[in-house]
Amino acid sequence: MKIIIVKDYEKVSDKAFEIMKEVVSGNPEAVLGLATGTTPLGLYARMIADHEENGTSYARVKAANLDEYAGVGKDNPNSYAYFMRKNLFDKIDIKLENTHIENGMALNADAECKRYAELLANMPRDIQVLGIGSNGHIAFNEPGTPFDSVTHTVELAESTVRDNARLFDRIEDVPRKAFTMGLSEIMQAKKILILATGANKADAVYGMIRGEVTEQLPASILRKHPDCVLICDEAAGSRLKN
Ligand code: GLP
Repeated sequence: MKIIIVKDYEKVSDKAFEIMKEVVSGNPEAVLGLATGTTPLGLYARMIADHEENGTSYARVKAANLDEYAGVGKDNPNSYAYFMRKNLFDKIDIKLENTHIENGMALNADAECKRYAELLANMPRDIQVLGIGSNGHIAFNEPGTPFDSVTHTVELAESTVRDNARLFDRIEDVPRKAFTMGLSEIMQAKKILILATGANKADAVYGMIRGEVTEQLPASILRKHPDCVLICDEAAGSRLKN
């Protein structure tokens, strides 16, 4: 894994954008694997600014997101579908029909997982953007998820519910179940960009890079990927320096 440590969140976003721009400029039909969470917001802001200022077009780009809360509809402001529209899709020229995410309201969860897994198999990602959970999860693949997993539903770890509560009015409102892309599907992307910022990610980043490659720390699977770049700020990368 290539490791880039820069000063702060803004510099992480700059570097991530540089890599994203290279992919999109090199291939106007690129397929992007996208993530939610606060970490990629700076990257998305730069993609929007670049679209407005330089006319970089996403008209033929396709996107597939990692995960979605179960029982939360796409027009609910807490859904990841809504997050993506608000923070990126509505502000660039990507066609909404070319953007994909699990349907949190699916009545038959197994059928929905199968549908999404088939969709992913037919749209290999050129680049996959990832954040990392403080417990080392990627997407909603919590510790203990098999490395060969495909799209599935998951019971969220207590620590994930607590971490994500900051985005809800009350902790009781945080969904306990979610749909997530599996680890084997994440690994299929041609290039992976994992972003980590803030001191609360330092242990997860350290474990991912210096610990064992183990299902107990899902992000450690990325060490097996031929083209994965970690971009972190000094706080998240602090334990790597010793
Ligand atoms: C959630 C998402 C992950 C994300 C993680 C970190 O659990 N399912 O995809 O990477 O949170 O979020 P943040 O970037 O807000 O720290």
